Amino acid sequence: MCGIVAAVADRDIVPLLIEGLTRLEYRGYDSAGIAVRDESAKRALTRMCSTGRVADLAVQAQDCTAKAGIAHTRWATHGAPSERNTHPLMSSGVALVHNGIIENYIPIRQMLIAQGYVFVSETDTEVIAHLVHFELKCAADLLTAVRRACAQLVGAYGIAVIREGDDCVVVARRGSPLLLGLGEHGNYAASDASALLSVTRNIVYLEEGDVAEIKRQSVRIFSVGAGDTGRATDRECPEEGTPLVIGVDRPVHVSTLSAEAVELGDYQHYMQKEIFEQPEALAATLEMIGGAQSLMPNLFGANAPEVFTGINSVLILACGTSYHSGLVARYWIEQIAGIRCTVEIASEYRYRASVPDPNQLVIAISQSGETADTLASVKYAKSLGMQRTLAICNVPESAIVRECALRFLTRAGPEVGVASTKAFTTQLAALFLLAVTLAKASGRLSVADEAQYLTDLRHLPLAVQKVLTLEPQIASWALHFANKHHALFLGRGMHYPIALEGALKLKEISYIHAEGYPAGELKHGPLALVDADMPVITIAPNDALLEKLKSNLMEVAARGGELYVFADADSAVTEGDAVHVLRLAEHYGLLSPVLHVVALQLLSYHVALVKGTDVDKPRNLAKSVTVE
Ligand code: F6R
Repeated sequence: MCGIVAAVADRDIVPLLIEGLTRLEYRGYDSAGIAVRDESAKRALTRMCSTGRVADLAVQAQDCTAKAGIAHTRWATHGAPSERNTHPLMSSGVALVHNGIIENYIPIRQMLIAQGYVFVSETDTEVIAHLVHFELKCAADLLTAVRRACAQLVGAYGIAVIREGDDCVVVARRGSPLLLGLGEHGNYAASDASALLSVTRNIVYLEEGDVAEIKRQSVRIFSVGAGDTGRATDRECPEEGTPLVIGVDRPVHVSTLSAEAVELGDYQHYMQKEIFEQPEALAATLEMIGGAQSLMPNLFGANAPEVFTGINSVLILACGTSYHSGLVARYWIEQIAGIRCTVEIASEYRYRASVPDPNQLVIAISQSGETADTLASVKYAKSLGMQRTLAICNVPESAIVRECALRFLTRAGPEVGVASTKAFTTQLAALFLLAVTLAKASGRLSVADEAQYLTDLRHLPLAVQKVLTLEPQIASWALHFANKHHALFLGRGMHYPIALEGALKLKEISYIHAEGYPAGELKHGPLALVDADMPVITIAPNDALLEKLKSNLMEVAARGGELYVFADADSAVTEGDAVHVLRLAEHYGLLSPVLHVVALQLLSYHVALVKGTDVDKPRNLAKSVTVE
């Protein structure tokens, strides 16, 4: 959730740290800070921080030059976003930044207080800074001290540490993403490759339990093992770890990420850019089926034919928007493939005494591939004996992808706006492909149906493009929402999850309280809320449930409710005084949820514009939830 950048080079790295933080700011924007070995202050450590945005930090740092430093943009867990809680946290000549949560920080803090350390922040992170300092008293170097400190931590961390007088930065990870960048003029570390694009594309992903020492001309990595969530050890006999060979034990990947992919271009916001990139993102995701008339299971990995054979049901694990894509997929998997499918919120599943089934296919859906709850839920399912796992993910080397036996990589490109848009629709495309593939594997699919599904999928980018042309009308609807405090989203069947997603989008970026309901449930409670002040947004595709849905709309109209209906061109829904109707160009059968959600994304975006909220960085949120 936080962003980390670190650098040791033969030139000034302050601009790189600031640029890297700017790129990572969407991952956490409560505060930002850097600690550098300041060339203008006899290479002493200088710490600068801002409780505002990275742009404020950039102003403070403009006169500073340094050849080594660490930087952080924070999403607060322990302690409010104040100056003293901002990273880096310091301990007499040691500075440290951290992403994650240390679960045993209280006993460590007590031990350190007994040793005379004084704590100035409310963070869990400060214990790591003092612990490293404490370990330095009897360690040969910073690397050893960090390894010894890490061996005592329970919880999740990605850290970067710098010490006054040293020529290195030491980084370590367990449970939070961290990678190294190998450059011509120096070596680097970051929580995401996009932060290092201007200096290198040669990336080494650290694994669980890795500790690395970064110098100007060398990088050393040691593995102290994956562990579970870390473990406390006797500090007299720490785990020193196994030295690893870069390029052998930890391969060097050449990042193909383009600078434009993470730049705003002509758009006002990343969310707007990402909504409009959906036709392209869908086309890229579907590129892997090419012109084929028939799907092969190995689209999901070389072992897919074995893994798919004999599965009796599907369990989908995910959070937030990704959970909603799972809910849509349930309709497809059951209807097209005839396979029972359950969808669980990962944070609930991981603590629930469920009944394991080794023949169940477990699917983890995640844009980032780093969501702590989703990752933990897959590990939990595996610990129960369920080894048939598939990741549907947008980030190739992410933890969830590495945890699963099979993978399908969506090609949405980097998603920077906190509200997920193109990741969602590309997940839907992947899940539709999966439903058709499973149907085929279970012998339920006719050649004609398979060809039709593939034709429909290929047409999807164009169909989404047509929905995007509705933006002006949707923007005019958004004006009606400026003074509203609540909104209800209704859908039926596979559009019910789209109602949930529409409500989530609206609440997260416009701060209007919104609920998604299956329209048939209205009279069982939520109808009590309906009045002229609560807009009711309805998804009304021309499907088998349309007539039922129209009865539900009557119930709203009869109680003075104002309806905003997203219908299809041929949905028989009539405009009226309090019934506004907007028509999508075509009814798109089973893939209709993909089109309707795009219209709802545009609605939320324009309501947020009208309300003047920070669209890409909504309050209290962050992208990529790497803490529990
Ligand atoms: C909402 C949103 C979140 C994420 C959720 C899971 O717009 O983006 O609800 O969908 O935090 O994230 P991933 O998909 O990265 O696992």
